[in-house]
Amino acid sequence: MLSQNTIDIVKSTVPVLKEHGLEITKTFYKIMFENNPEVKGMFNMDKQNSGEQPKALAMTVLAAAQNIDNLGVLLPAVKKIGKIHVNTNVKPEHYPIVGKNLLLAIKEVLGDAATDEVLNAWGEAYEVIAQVFIDVEKDLYLES
Ligand code: HEM
Repeated sequence: MLSQNTIDIVKSTVPVLKEHGLEITKTFYKIMFENNPEVKGMFNMDKQNSGEQPKALAMTVLAAAQNIDNLGVLLPAVKKIGKIHVNTNVKPEHYPIVGKNLLLAIKEVLGDAATDEVLNAWGEAYEVIAQVFIDVEKDLYLES
């Protein structure tokens, strides 16, 4: 369970992160592929280069964070994305990789505003969001 303080911090930083959506997305993929080249092969690089889809992942985390106290509303979207994840063999152990690099991107974009308190709040919120995906995908893997 996230504390009300954590929820408030996350929600109050979503708008500024959304404003810098493209920057945060570019930073996120760049540092993730540098830090964790083992996941690069999972992503469709044509889509990365055309800019068609690459905003989706980071932007979905931000959208989820906005609903962090009501994550049930996200379930239809999570089920859809989950199918794509299962097709690309995304597993629970990949989630901390995305989380770590997304946090680094958030830190870079927020600059001085990225206090430890803010980064810890985002770390906690990401874990809750990731667990929703992991749970949905567990069922999808069992069905497949
Ligand atoms: C909570 C964390 C995550 C969120 C919110 C998220 C969100 C998304 C979204 C919105 C899409 C696009 C779906 C579409 O095309 O309609 C997507 C696709 C994809 N995601 Fe995730 N994702 C998360 C975690 C991960 C993780 C941990 C991995 C693996 C390292 C991953 C790998 C992929 C891949 C490979 C695709 C296919 C698209 C491509 O080739 O670029 N995702 N994800």
